[in-house]
Amino acid sequence: MISPKISTSDISLFFNVTNQAILKKSKLKQLKQEKTGNKVYFTHSSSKNLFELNFDKKVFSLQIVKGGVGKTALTLSIAARASLYGAKVLCIDIDQQANLTNHFGIKSDELPVMIDVLKGNIKFEKTIVNVTDGIHLVPSRIDNAILDDHIMVESLRLDQVYKTHIDKVKDFYDLILIDCPPSLGRSVASAALAADYVIAPVTPDAQCLSGLKLLQNGLSSIKEKYGRSVPMKIIFNKFDGRTMLSRNMISRLLENEFYRESLFNTYIRQNQDFANSCANCESIFDSIKPSSAKEDIDFLTKEILDILPAEDNAEKMRTPEFVSIED
Ligand SMILES: Nc1ncnc2c1ncn2[C@@H]1O[C@H](COP(=O)(O)OP(=O)(O)OP(=O)(O)O)[C@@H](O)[C@H]1O
Ligand SMILES: [Mg+2]
Repeated sequence: MISPKISTSDISLFFNVTNQAILKKSKLKQLKQEKTGNKVYFTHSSSKNLFELNFDKKVFSLQIVKGGVGKTALTLSIAARASLYGAKVLCIDIDQQANLTNHFGIKSDELPVMIDVLKGNIKFEKTIVNVTDGIHLVPSRIDNAILDDHIMVESLRLDQVYKTHIDKVKDFYDLILIDCPPSLGRSVASAALAADYVIAPVTPDAQCLSGLKLLQNGLSSIKEKYGRSVPMKIIFNKFDGRTMLSRNMISRLLENEFYRESLFNTYIRQNQDFANSCANCESIFDSIKPSSAKEDIDFLTKEILDILPAEDNAEKMRTPEFVSIED
């Protein structure tokens, strides 16, 4: 089971105060201080009381037809970090591979999943399970492979099939993340129609550009058919500044006006911690040791939750670093 933690220094950096100030505040509020070595850390319930942030409730669907780009790894890592800022997070796994569900350490063989909701066997709210403090999950299993067919055979409206259910629980969560399979079917389109934003992770792989084009066209068709414009945000994942592949990919994105404007201000560097934590059923935030993976996901999560301090936004605009491709 994942067990995300945030260090005192991460909290003090956010508020631009000393560690002592944070420890004092936590004592005054009688919050639980836990320690690893001699370092104090906090978990969702205690850090929520330290940050005292208000969030603009949002639904994001992570989707692109390309597999292995980090939809699941980013869903899990963003969920972990957001929960540490005090956000109450719901992850919805609609991928029949159930990677997110497995990574969370949830055995879903006997659990109800989205297809059971669509078949009318169970209420959506009853499928939600607790993962850890601050993170809930609608699990998935292989049976979700028939979501597309079911939606087609039953002629379910794509703009309602998931949205009606998600809207019922939206007030309870600060952040809802839908982890989609690498496909373009009705189920994934319905996830986009239930979301405020679609997040498309791309990696240094030319196929990702084709995936983005397909997604962009899909979102245009949705707009024409259902009158709903769902904005797309692109996150560059597995960035490695030393490789031409990464540099070429970013220049291709930047030369297209639409993609350029859709890019998050940050990007996620290639880091083995993602796969290692996955292998151990942990999140990258289960340890409090600083790493580039933590730093990048932290910045992305702040963008998503819209809690980025103004000066951070200006200072950390990372796009210029991308464009030095002449050498
Ligand atoms: N920034 C990164 N650096 C290194 N490895 C990464 C990074 N992001 C993700 N990974 C790893 O890449 C692999 C594929 O990621 P993931 O399973 O999240 O992709 P996906 O888009 O969800 O794939 P699928 O479409 O098949 O569900 C995983 O082993 C994951 O840990
Ligand atoms: Mg996945």
